[in-house]
Amino acid sequence: MSMLRKVGIGVGGLLGVLVVVGAGGYGWSSMTTTTKLTAKHDVHRIDFPIPFPLTDDEVTALRAERSALAKSPAMRGKDVMAGVDIAAIANERAVARGKHLVQSFYGCTECHGADFGGGTMVDDPMIGRLLAPNLTLGTGSRTLKYAAADWDRMVRHGVKPDSSGSPMPSKDFFAVTDRELSDVVSYIRSFPPVNKEVPAISLGPLGKFLVAAGKIPLSADIHPTNHVITHAVLPPAASADATFGKHLAQTCTGCHGPTLAGGPILGGPPDWPPARNLTPTGLAGWTYQDFLTALKEGKSKNGVALREPMASMPKFAKNMTDVELQALWAYISTVPPQPIVK
Ligand code: HEC
Ligand code: HEC
Repeated sequence: MSMLRKVGIGVGGLLGVLVVVGAGGYGWSSMTTTTKLTAKHDVHRIDFPIPFPLTDDEVTALRAERSALAKSPAMRGKDVMAGVDIAAIANERAVARGKHLVQSFYGCTECHGADFGGGTMVDDPMIGRLLAPNLTLGTGSRTLKYAAADWDRMVRHGVKPDSSGSPMPSKDFFAVTDRELSDVVSYIRSFPPVNKEVPAISLGPLGKFLVAAGKIPLSADIHPTNHVITHAVLPPAASADATFGKHLAQTCTGCHGPTLAGGPILGGPPDWPPARNLTPTGLAGWTYQDFLTALKEGKSKNGVALREPMASMPKFAKNMTDVELQALWAYISTVPPQPIVK
C-alpha cells in the first residue's frame, strides 16, 4: 500500500550504474525524464457526487430508527424526519468511511501530512525533492479547483489537471471505486484549511536516471488499460470473503506483486528486503493467527521481526476491522501458488 511507500522511491542499487553512465548519460536521462514528465495523457473526465448521498435503504433505516424513538403522543401525526439534515448525515458518514480508508489502507497522510497541508515523499539530493502538496482549501492548495474528474485523474490514473503524469504512486489506487474516492475527498475536505505553499517536485540526477530507465515508472505510463476504464461505483460488500479481500489486497500488490509472488520491490531503497511470497507456497503452514501476528505485530511465523517497510504495517493494521483482516486472509489463502522469487 502506498502508505508504506513514502520512502519507496530509492536508489535500488543503481548508484553504480549512474556513475558508469556518466555525463552523456545524464543528458540522455534528463531529456528522457522531461519527455516522460511532460507527455500528455488522454484520460476521461467523469463525475461522481462528493459526498455520496444516502441510499434509499439508508434513508429507510434512518426513518425506522427515528420512528422507534418518536412514540410519544406529542409526536403523533408529525413527520419523524422533520428537521433531520440528510445531507449532513451523508457527509458525516462519508468522512468516517474516508478516514477509515486513509488510516487503514491508503495512507495519503504519510506523504501529504497528517493535516493534509503538505509533506515529504522523498527529499534527497541525488533522487530529488518529491514533496507532496497541500490538499486542503487553504492558500497554496493544489486542489482548490478540483472537481470529481480531477480527483479521478490524479488518484486513479496518475495524471495531473494539465494532463501530465506524476511520480505519485497512483498505481496503488487504480482499483479504488467511485464511492471510496469520494469518501477520501470528503475526509480531506473535513480538515481546516492550511495556508502552505509546497514547491513543485524536482528530480536529482539519480531520480532522473531512474525515471528515464523505467525504474521509477510513472503510474500514468503503466495503467493496465491505458486509461480506458469504467470504474466500479461501489466496493464489494464488506464480508469476510475472497472477493472483498481481493479488493483490499490491491494495496498489498504494489510491493508483493500482482500475483502476490513477492520478490524485489521496484523502486525500493537498497536496504529494503524483497517482499515475501504470500501465496500458499510462501505462507505454507500459516494459520489466520500467524497472519494477524504478521500484520498487527510485525512478526513472521517464526517470531522474527519483519523489516521495513513491512515493519510499519501494524500502525495501519490496528485500524483494520476484523472483517477486513479475515477477508484479506480469505483471499490470500486461496490465490494460486507461485514459485518463490529471490
Ligand atoms: C508515497 C507518497 C504519496 C502518497 C501515499 C499519496 N500522494 Fe498524492 N502526491 C504525492 C506527490 C509527491 C505529489 C506531487 C506530484 C507532482 O507534483 O507531480 C502528490 C500530488 C497529489 C495531488 C495534487 C496533484 C496536482 O498537482 O494537481 C493530489 C490531489 C493528491 N496527491 C492526492 C492524493 C490522495 C487522495 C492520496 C491518497 C489516496 C495520495 N495523494 C497519496 C505523493 C503521495
Ligand atoms: C511497501 C511494501 C509493502 C507493502 C505495501 C506490503 N508489504 Fe508485506 N512485506 C513487505 C516486505 C518487504 C516483507 C518482508 C519483510 C522481511 O523480510 O523482513 C513483507 C512481509 C509480509 C508478510 C510476512 C511473510 C513471511 O513469510 O514472514 C506478510 C504476511 C505480509 N507482508 C502481508 C502483507 C499484506 C497482507 C499487505 C497488504 C495489506 C502487505 N503485506 C503490504 C513489503 C510490503
